[in-house]
Amino acid sequence: MRTIEEQGHIFEEWITPAQIAAEIQPVADRINEDYKTKSPLFVVVLNGAFIFAADLVRRFNGRCKITFVRVKSYEGMTSTGEIRFIVPLQQNIEGRDIIVVEDIVDTGLTIHHLKQYLLDQGAASVRVAALLCKPDKLQFADAEPDYVVRRITNEFVIGYGLDLEGFTRNLDAIYKIKEQS
Ligand code: IMP
Repeated sequence: MRTIEEQGHIFEEWITPAQIAAEIQPVADRINEDYKTKSPLFVVVLNGAFIFAADLVRRFNGRCKITFVRVKSYEGMTSTGEIRFIVPLQQNIEGRDIIVVEDIVDTGLTIHHLKQYLLDQGAASVRVAALLCKPDKLQFADAEPDYVVRRITNEFVIGYGLDLEGFTRNLDAIYKIKEQS
């Protein structure tokens, strides 16, 4: 089993590239079925979702468009919280069927606000496809992903797009923390 060290922590390989690929396929199959009469717009949440999105959209068989947003979420600034767009939406989404592609849903704050924003901009529908979800940490019921590759416990994971202070996104597998030094 591969291990790596990052920021003084040891991480061990947990979900291999082959397992990731095998687990994405049934999710893609469901999306293909659900959107067979539609041309969805995939809204990829940067930075973490770029690798998952690349694998997911290449398994989508129909017509689609792909765009990117980058958001930062802040808790406690207002009573409802808010998200700030670092890279804003590049196009009109009125009437579009949107599939948000996210790396990991943790508290759900980001997805909760992003979904509301997209609906406010006139999206016809908004669903969420997430690589990972930590259900025990979810605080917003509407942020539960419609499509999820794997639900995990409250562990910190890196790799396959997921970072620790900007590093490790390039790892081809998902790693979880092994021990702290
Ligand atoms: P949320 O808004 O609380 O759901 O946070 C989602 C974001 O937190 C993700 O897009 C990630 O950037 C980050 N995040 C949450 N858990 C992890 C993790 O285990 N590894 C890396 N990033 C994480």
